Amino acid sequence: MFRKLLAFLFFLSLFVFSNPLSITAQKLTTHKYVGTKVCGKCHKSAKQGKQYKIWKESIHAQAYEVLKTPMADKYSKEMGYGDKAVESKHCLSCHTSGLEVDAKFLGPKFKVEDGVQCETCHGAGNDYKSIKIMKNRELAMKNGLVNVFNNTEEFCRNCHNPESPTFAGFNFKEMWAKIEHPVMHRKKK
Ligand code: HEC
Ligand code: HEC
Ligand code: HEC
Ligand code: HEC
Repeated sequence: MFRKLLAFLFFLSLFVFSNPLSITAQKLTTHKYVGTKVCGKCHKSAKQGKQYKIWKESIHAQAYEVLKTPMADKYSKEMGYGDKAVESKHCLSCHTSGLEVDAKFLGPKFKVEDGVQCETCHGAGNDYKSIKIMKNRELAMKNGLVNVFNNTEEFCRNCHNPESPTFAGFNFKEMWAKIEHPVMHRKKK
């Protein structure tokens, strides 16, 4: 019986750790979050593709703030997650990053208020953010960059699914068009 349980836990851990698309895996990070401003330093020029500006103007940047609205509190109350949505772990789990990790993994510029931010999708960045590593995808992934490049739709569905109280379907093509942020000089290829 005990051995069966151990075997089960072993397989469970294999699943969690080997599935880089699982948000659970990302929450068990051993890398430090640096915050959007740090990513933005290199990802703001027109040549790079203005990823910081595109994200800042996207709805994801508001995902934490929206939990402070009366509408959010109403959902939270109705669903039994407490009076204040912004204090509910359940709601926060899809609306921001960083709350689930030890504070020692949060750099000084990291902000929970940034909502669904660069590192929510790309992984905690302290160990991949140097130019030399960033330019080499394989090396970057060894240092914490999450592979969202294949199976992107599946990745989005970690949050865009019926567990969201406001879910009304997810059209990947349309939704991606609203947030895409390509590196410009790559696009020309
Ligand atoms: C020191 C500058 C610098 C910082 C800081 C930086 N990046 Fe980058 N990043 C780059 C460069 C340069 C590239 C390569 C783009 C190119 O082809 O020109 C890149 C590429 C990327 C890519 C594409 C990787 C691939 O293999 O296609 C992602 C995703 C990315 N960065 C995310 C981030 C995130 C998230 C952060 C913050 C945690 C960050 N970057 C911080 C310079 C930086
Ligand atoms: C960590 C959870 C999470 C992930 C992963 C995620 N999203 Fe979101 N997304 C949200 C939340 C939360 C909102 C609502 C924010 C708000 O209303 O303030 C949202 C809203 C959006 C919206 C605006 C809604 C609309 O109808 O216009 C778009 C577009 C979007 N997401 C696209 C994507 C795409 C494409 C992906 C995958 C590349 C993705 N999201 C991955 C959490 C996530
Ligand atoms: C499984 C991930 C997930 C969870 C858990 C979640 N949300 Fe969201 N939330 C989303 C996504 C994704 C969106 C974008 C719209 C959609 O597809 O539902 C969103 C959108 C919203 C919006 C904006 C709706 C609008 O019309 O502008 C509010 C408000 C909201 N969520 C509140 C909450 C509250 C309150 C909770 C906790 C009771 C919660 N969410 C839990 C993923 C989640
Ligand atoms: C909602 C999730 C999400 C957020 C938030 C997000 N990204 Fe991305 N990003 C993606 C996905 C998915 C891709 C891969 C697209 C592909 O391969 O087609 C990507 C690709 C990139 C690329 C490579 C683009 C290319 O043309 O190869 C860079 C650079 C990048 N992101 C930087 C950032 C930075 C910097 C931030 C924050 C300012 C950020 N991203 C926020 C999901 C996200």
